[in-house]
Amino acid sequence: MAKRGSWRTRFGFYILAIGSACGLGNLWRFPYVVGENGGGAFILLYVFMSLAIGAPLLIAELMIGKNSRKSVIVATQQLSQRAGTGFKWSGRFAVILSIVVFSYYAVISGWVLHFMTQFLVSLFAGPEMAVDKTNLASLMSNGWLQLLLASVHLLITVVVVVKGVQEGLERWISSLMPLFAVLVAILLFRSFSLPSTPEVLRFLFYPDFSKLTLSSLGHALGHVFFTLSVGFGTMVTFGSYMRESDHVPTAGFRVALVDTALSLVAVVMIFPVAFQASNVPLTDPALMFEVLPRYLLSIRGGALFGLAFFACLYLAALNASIGLLEVVVSNWVDARKQMERGRATWYSGLIALALAIFPALSSSLFKTVRIGNRSLIESLDSLLINWILPVVTLGILVTFLRGTSEKEKEASFIDKDKFVSYTMYPHWKFIIWWGGPIVIGLGLLLQVIDLLFSK
Ligand code: PHE
Repeated sequence: MAKRGSWRTRFGFYILAIGSACGLGNLWRFPYVVGENGGGAFILLYVFMSLAIGAPLLIAELMIGKNSRKSVIVATQQLSQRAGTGFKWSGRFAVILSIVVFSYYAVISGWVLHFMTQFLVSLFAGPEMAVDKTNLASLMSNGWLQLLLASVHLLITVVVVVKGVQEGLERWISSLMPLFAVLVAILLFRSFSLPSTPEVLRFLFYPDFSKLTLSSLGHALGHVFFTLSVGFGTMVTFGSYMRESDHVPTAGFRVALVDTALSLVAVVMIFPVAFQASNVPLTDPALMFEVLPRYLLSIRGGALFGLAFFACLYLAALNASIGLLEVVVSNWVDARKQMERGRATWYSGLIALALAIFPALSSSLFKTVRIGNRSLIESLDSLLINWILPVVTLGILVTFLRGTSEKEKEASFIDKDKFVSYTMYPHWKFIIWWGGPIVIGLGLLLQVIDLLFSK
C-alpha cells in the first residue's frame, strides 16, 4: 500500500477503494440477503439506503482520514480529544470488528478457492469430475476442509502484506478486473435468456412491500455498510492516502455508485439460475455456490469459464481481505509503536485463524448450535453485520461530527470549481447530522422489536 499521501494519480485511490468495496459482499452476500428479505421491495430499500445514507457516511470516513492523515484509532482519539467528548472507543471497535470479519470472510474465500480448484480438476479430468451438487454438500459437511481452505487464504493474505507487495498485486488484480467484468456480462446475458427470467424480474423489481419485515431496514443498512467497507476504518485509511487536491465527495459518491451497480448485476445474474433450479433455498448463505457452479458446467466451455470466473472472484476476495488486514496491522502499529509490522501481521493472521474455527465448523461440528432458527455462521453474520457494524459506524460518525468544526466540514466538502458541491452540501450535512443517526437508530430499534415480539 502507498505511503501516506504518496499517490501520484487519482486512479490509485479508486483502485484501492473500489477494490475494497467490490467483493464477496456484492456477489455472495447480497443475493441471499435479498432472498431472505423477499426481493424487490428490499432491493429498492437497499439502493436508496446505499446512495442516501451509505455514500454520505463513506464521504465522512474518507474525510476523517484525509484531514487527519491518520488511521482510524488515532484519528478518532484525536477527534474526541478536540471535542472533549465523542466515542474515542469507536476506532478500536472498528479494528476489532475488522479482524473478526476478516476471519469470517476467509471462510467464504475458502469456499471460492474450493470451487476454483474443482473447476481446475474438471478441466483436466473431464466431465466425470464435474462440479455438481455433491461438491457443495461435501464441502459443507467437511468443516476441517473449510478450515484448511480458510487457512490457505489467510496465509496468502498474510504473506502478501508481510512482503509488502500488495500495491503491485492490487494493480495487477485490478488490471484483471475488466476480464471479470466481461465474464460477468456474458453470464448475465446467458442467465437472462433463461425461461425463468420474467418471473425473476417480477421478484427482483416489482416491490411488494408486504414482504419486508421489521428487520429489513437493519438488514439493508448493515449490508450497505459492509459492502461499502464503511465502519471498519478501511475508508479512513484510504482517505489518509488521498491527495490534497482530490475531492472527497466526488470520490465517495463514485465508489458507492459502482458498488451498488455491481450488487444489482449480481442479483440479476444469479436469480434466474436459482429460479430455474427451483429447489434452491433463496435464503441460504450458500446460495451463490449452490447455483453458479452447476449452471456454469451446463454451458459449453463451462469448466474453463468456471475456472476463470472463480479465479477472478477469488482475486476480488483477496483484494478485499488485504484491505481488511492492512487496516488491522496499520492501526496496531500506530497504536503500539513498539510493535513491529511483520510481527503484527502474523499475529493478526493467527488470531483470524483461531476465530475462523467457528464459522468454518458451523455446518459440521457446530451443526447442532442453532440460535433461533439460524446456524452458527448465519447468526455470526447477522450479529456482526446487522447489529455491531451499524453501532460502530454510528460511533465513528458521532466522533466526526463532534470533533470537526462546521468550517472544516464545509471546506472539505465544497470545491469552488464544482457547482454541485454547493448544492449538495446542505443535503450531506442533513444526512450526517440527522438522517444517518435517526435511520440507524430506527433500524436497530425495529430489529430489537422484531427479535422480541416475532416468533
Ligand atoms: N466491502 C467488501 C465486500 O463487499 C467487504 C469488506 C469490508 C472489505 C470491509 C474490506 C473492509 O466484499
